[in-house]
Amino acid sequence: MSDPPAVPPVVTPAPRSRARMLELVFPKDTNYLGTAFGGWVLSLMDKAASVAAVRHGGGNVVTARMDGVDFRVPIRVGDAVALDAQVVRVGRTSMTVRVDVYRETMTTGEQELATTGMFVFVSVDDEGRPCPVPPLAEGQDTGSAHPDPDARP
Ligand SMILES: CC(C)(COP(=O)(O)OP(=O)(O)OC[C@H]1O[C@@H](n2cnc3c(N)ncnc32)[C@H](O)[C@@H]1OP(=O)(O)O)[C@@H](O)C(=O)NCCC(=O)NCCS
Repeated sequence: MSDPPAVPPVVTPAPRSRARMLELVFPKDTNYLGTAFGGWVLSLMDKAASVAAVRHGGGNVVTARMDGVDFRVPIRVGDAVALDAQVVRVGRTSMTVRVDVYRETMTTGEQELATTGMFVFVSVDDEGRPCPVPPLAEGQDTGSAHPDPDARP
């Protein structure tokens, strides 16, 4: 039998300054009410936000602040959780990332904004010292705390 034809690798750049992530809610991720545990949702937000910050900054980052996290509606076991993280403000070494979390009923595709928050990351060198990050592209430096209606994950 002949070998299958070699498939050339597809190399495309990741979107800069933005990250999307999907998770499923299992019973181990819930509180005794059967809804997602807040600390678990926060850790997902921190993960998605850190990917957006690393993509923007191009180096290691640490979380410096989690701000204004609003748990608006409960996320239930069996839901999918879709996260959208976007760098919305950049300082000299810091980056503010807005994170929107949607709960999704997978069978219908219905999504509802469940949790929002703003995270600040600082770009650090190998010794953990803050180091400069590039500016945001024109129009992206919104600092907005409002969800982007076109950005549903
Ligand atoms: C974040 C950290 C690197 C900042 O170091 P630092 O020596 O205090 O840095 P500086 O005072 O020079 O500030 C550097 C930048 O961070 C920002 N910053 C520092 N602490 C911040 C905070 N708590 N919230 C928001 N921004 C903060 C400053 O505003 C500054 O921003 P700019 O350069 O864009 O103007 C340091 O505090 C640290 O390592 N913290 C622990 C991070 C960590 O372990 N996170 C995991 C979660 S526990």
